[in-house]
Parts: sequence; structure tokens; C-alpha cells
Amino acid sequence: MARVTWKSKIGFIFAAAGSAVGLANIWRFPYIVGKYGGAAFICVYLACLLLIGLPVFISEVLIGRTAQKNPRSAFKELGKNKFWAGSGTFTIITGFLISSFYSVVAGWVLGYLVSAIFGQISHFTSADQAQNFFINLVSNPVWAVGFHLFFMCLCFFLLVAGVRKGLERGSEIMVPFLLFILIALVICGVTMPGSHVGLSFYLKPDWSLITPTTFLFALGHAFFTLSLGQGTMVTYGSYLGKKDSILNNCLPVAFIDTLIALLAGLAIFPIVFAVGLKPDAGEPLVFYTLPLVFSQLKGGYILALLFFLLLTLAALTSQISAMEPLIAYLIDEKKWKRSTSVITVAMGAFLFGVPAAFSNSIDPRFTLFGMNFFDLISYVVLEIMVPLGGFLAIILLAWKWGMKKAYKAIKAGPSNFWVDNAFMKGYLWVTIKYVAPILIGIIFLQSFIRR
Ligand code: PFF
Repeated sequence: MARVTWKSKIGFIFAAAGSAVGLANIWRFPYIVGKYGGAAFICVYLACLLLIGLPVFISEVLIGRTAQKNPRSAFKELGKNKFWAGSGTFTIITGFLISSFYSVVAGWVLGYLVSAIFGQISHFTSADQAQNFFINLVSNPVWAVGFHLFFMCLCFFLLVAGVRKGLERGSEIMVPFLLFILIALVICGVTMPGSHVGLSFYLKPDWSLITPTTFLFALGHAFFTLSLGQGTMVTYGSYLGKKDSILNNCLPVAFIDTLIALLAGLAIFPIVFAVGLKPDAGEPLVFYTLPLVFSQLKGGYILALLFFLLLTLAALTSQISAMEPLIAYLIDEKKWKRSTSVITVAMGAFLFGVPAAFSNSIDPRFTLFGMNFFDLISYVVLEIMVPLGGFLAIILLAWKWGMKKAYKAIKAGPSNFWVDNAFMKGYLWVTIKYVAPILIGIIFLQSFIRR
């Protein structure tokens, strides 16, 4: 049976952008910028994207497009032995695990969206109130598991519709909508009195703020934001036609992903400074800082609603992309129907996510290696499995399959400015073969040293 492909020329771009743009861009990026050096962090991050993110992204999409198969079969086809088939399976498992706990965080966001609809998060008068609201929500097991389930059901409906109707159409609607809401928030932020301090924090680098941690976080974030190391981009690449241009498809996605993260920061920092809050509030920045900000603004009800709608949409298109590799595997290899595969993966990810959803509500003494279940699974997956998956993909492409074949495959398709550019050739060759694998190795080792 011919492999289903993206319906439109830009189907891949929208779906891959939908995957890349998620909680990492809108929730995580601003808080790590706030915590690790403002504009200086952004410069380091952009360098990491160029040196690691883009080369690994291109490699994964190329593996998928070349093999036209799910990650396990694709890795096996290029690597020609059991080790590489096993590596492909490893990336599929990583995607599945990500989907189990990503949905828990997305459930919190959905909980905030529902609360925003009922006007519950736009009338806080103190930081304590906002903080308590967040703590009550995540520590209430019925809320935490209920919204995790609710979110998973939304993913189920999108995924069951399949590659063309679900992944492609869903993202075609969501990505532009997201851009639109962000731009509206940026305009609100920059027109507030006092917002210029936030703008200069965000745009004027202060190099003295850079520390070794800045690099570590910038590298790690470049990886996570492009959904690398867990089969998603291999799978999405497999829905490209053999003659579809790799660069024409990948470059816009990396651009959109970066643009949305930068816009998210541009929306948040002017507001944070305008109302006199600290930029380094850390992880809770979005969850209990912004509702406080919304409560102080005229039109805060609408802003809160728009903001959490935006976050939910972004999380939805990322979550479905984390589930798709296993679904594609079950369809390709086990010959299951799409609907059966989707329901199995959705139920599995939901059940696996339940202990993570309970992590904040059950007795905190219930820990392993000093971490609750949520922290443990996200640590193992994001700090170990994801870098390893991306590392395996780029080694497979550059060192096992061979850089000559890889570069020829990158050039396949219509000739254009990027493909024929000598600088691009040098950049791809050096970063894919040497720079990215070495830097991934450093992140990987660092993640062990850090704990
Ligand atoms: N790229 C997503 C984000 O920016 O939030 C994170 C992510 C989601 C990575 C799902 C991987 C994934 F499967």
C-alpha cells in the first residue's frame, strides 16, 4: 500500500511546526530566559539552534523521508542491523513516555483555560492567591487526573482523523491562530506603561549574566523545542514524498518555532516588568505570575482566556506528535487499523501518566532517588533518553549511512537557493558530522554531572 503523504505542499511545515511549537516555547522559553540571562541567553540559544537543533532536525527528517517508514523500520533500513532497529524502537518508546507526562502539564493548562472561562483567574489581588490557586489545582487528584484525561480525549479525536485531516488540518488552523493571539498579546504588553524595562531586559544583552548553566539550558532547550530525539520528526519526515525538498520543508519550521518562542518572550516580559514582577520567577512564571498580571489589567479576563487558549492549542499539536511514532509503528508493522492504534496509544499514555498526575497530590515521602514520579520520569526522558535518541539518529545518518549519501539525499528534489549554496553545504557537512554529535555528547554527560 502506498504510504500516505501530506496532502498539500506545506502540510509537513504546518504539522512539524505544530509539533515544535508547544509548552516549551510559550511556557518554558520565557521562564528560562528570565532565569538564565535575558537577552544574552537568547544569543546563546540561537547559536545552539544553529549548531545542534537544525542539523539534528534535518537528519531526522531525512531518515524518515528516505525510508518512508516509522522510526523502528527507518532506523533498521538505514542501519541494516538489529542494533539500529532497537535504536528506532527506543525513540518510539521515548515519544510515548513524553506523551504520558506532557499531557499532565497540558492538563494543568487546560484546567487554567476552563478556570479562565469562568473568570476565576483574573481577579487575584495578591501573589499568594495566585500561587495557592496553582497549588490547589495540581494537588487536587480529581482535577489533575480529570484534565489529563480531558486533554487526552482531545488528542484522540485529532489523531483518529489521521495524517491528512487530523495532523495536517489541525495544525493548519492552529499555527496561524497561535501567531495571531501572540501578536495581540505582544501589542498589549508593549503598550503598557513601564514596559520598556522589560523590552530592554529582553533585547539588550548583558554578557555578565552568562554562566556555564546558560549553555546547558540553551542546548537542552534547542533539542526539546524542535521535538527531537523521540521519533516525531522521523515519522513526520516519512510522510514527505521522496522528491520533496528537505531544506524547503525544514528551514521554515525551525524559523516558525524560533519566531513563536521569541514572540512569547516579547509578550511576557514587558507585562512582567510593567507590573513590577521579577523575571526570574522560574517554572511557575506562567502559572501563577501571569494570572496575577491579568488580574491587574483592564481586559484581563479576555487576555487570560486568549493566553491559556493559546497554550492549550500549542500543547495539543505537540502532544499528538509525540504519540504519532508509536501509532505509525502499530499501523506499519502490526497492520493495526489507525483507529485501534490511536485508542491503544491514547489509553496507554493516559494510564502511564496517571502516577505523574498524582505526583503532586500524594504523600511527598513517596519518592524514588529523591524525586516524585513526575520529576523522575521527566528527568529520565528529557535528560537521558531524548539526547541519546537524537545522538543515535545523527550518528546513524552521518557515520553509519554515510555523509556522502546523506548530502546527496538532502539535495534531492527541486534545485533552489539553499540546496545550491556552497556555504550551506559546508555548514550541513560540518555540523551534522562533527559539531552536533560532540555538543550532544556534552549535554548528555552534563546531565549526569549536574545531579
Ligand atoms: N516541542 C514541544 C514543545 O515545544 O513544547 C515539546 C515536545 C512535545 C517535544 C512533544 C516532543 C514531543 F513529542
